[in-house]
Amino acid sequence: MEISSSTQQQDLKSEVFFEELRKRDFSRLEENQQVYFDYTGGNLYPESLLKEHYDFLSKNVLGNPHSTNPTSKLATQMVEEARKKVLEYFNASEDYFCIFTANASNALKIVGECYPFNEKSQLLLFADNHNSVNGLREFCKSKKGTFQYCPMYYEDLRIDETKLSELLHNKLDFENKLLAFPAQSNVSGVKHDLNWIKKAQDLSWDVLLDAAAFVPTSKLDLKEYPANFVSISFYKIFGFPTGIGCLFVRKDTFNKLHKPWFAGGTVSFAAVNEPLHKLNTNHERFEDGTINYLQIPAIKNGLDYIENIGMVNINKRVEKHTQFILSHFANLKHTNGNPLVAVYGPKDTQSRGGTIIFNVLDKDGKNIPFYEVEAKANEKNISIRTGCFCNPGIDEVNNCISNEELSKYYSAKEGANFLEMINYLGKMRGAVRISVGFVTNQSDLQNLIHFIESFRA
Ligand SMILES: Cc1ncc(COP(=O)(O)O)c(C=O)c1O
Repeated sequence: MEISSSTQQQDLKSEVFFEELRKRDFSRLEENQQVYFDYTGGNLYPESLLKEHYDFLSKNVLGNPHSTNPTSKLATQMVEEARKKVLEYFNASEDYFCIFTANASNALKIVGECYPFNEKSQLLLFADNHNSVNGLREFCKSKKGTFQYCPMYYEDLRIDETKLSELLHNKLDFENKLLAFPAQSNVSGVKHDLNWIKKAQDLSWDVLLDAAAFVPTSKLDLKEYPANFVSISFYKIFGFPTGIGCLFVRKDTFNKLHKPWFAGGTVSFAAVNEPLHKLNTNHERFEDGTINYLQIPAIKNGLDYIENIGMVNINKRVEKHTQFILSHFANLKHTNGNPLVAVYGPKDTQSRGGTIIFNVLDKDGKNIPFYEVEAKANEKNISIRTGCFCNPGIDEVNNCISNEELSKYYSAKEGANFLEMINYLGKMRGAVRISVGFVTNQSDLQNLIHFIESFRA
């Protein structure tokens, strides 16, 4: 009894805390009558973060970094403070370089471009990857390496771990083997088992962990899960600024990346009469040209903001919201008793985040086209996402799209697109995605359920 009443008290305290936070930093949602359910697409920025940063910018003079003049020195100092904070936040200070990039995709591209793929290399990908990871296969192919996908189960969209183990054991005589997978699916919310990092490394694989969808609502400790390369985008964690991500590279793998060119800021020496250059030996090697020195200082404030709330609290809140939605969706029925919603992937909160993919069904059990659901949501100022979410692997599994169908469509069409493929195959594709964050509140959740109920027939 005592335990449950103290849990209730804690829940109440947490509810009050998050409601106050919402009023303080996100009142624009109510003012604009917006209901936001695309936290995996991008988190919302707290107003206080904007104010803090613009205060700093308006009171200081910052110049292009890496010079000894005072305005340059201040910019360098602020960027390096942000970098230090990022490394500390992910428990990566000793073992990693933090390379600031434009976003997670750009971080991934650096790995693709610089990883030493050759005819004895293999790139192993989870079928549940964002296209910015799938695209790495083009770098691998261009250097005559091979790539393979590890499939996932239709039932819960989790990876086939027996197959994964087999694939990891398969290429023992290969050089430069890279396993690339998301810590959390950007579509199904599935959290993949991070223990595969060490298991793969023990079999001489390098591991690229795409943590973009995981870190906004979960703690990532890079000492515990020492992936060789890790990609993230900061706007997904705290909304502002956009245009900054980072690539963590483990120091002991750093020299494995071969940069195919050099640019301003990346070299310690370059000559013209004799075409020689020496690349920098730290993060600077991969930060081409002028970094975003006016916005990077805001990254430190953003991480401080998240730490003040506490990732454990964020995680709990997101789990509670996810549970609420999943249980309500399971109970929504048409008047004839048929279900109103078909959720793909896990139906509970075990090892998953706050991203849910589903289709709304008509009373005969057929999918209502996702674009109709989206159009209705738009009318009500509810921001959801629809389509395949840059993750074709999940959509192909959900809609049972065969290799033959994909090849037939692809070879028949010069330019290809998702909606046209639906027409061509006469087969529905796509789904609806919603995602919750620490800003989501009960009123948003009620709005969502009412909206889905509006399809009841
Ligand atoms: C898992 C995952 N990886 C990569 C990306 C690409 O991130 P960005 O568009 O910020 O480069 C996203 C974006 O949604 C994502 O969710």
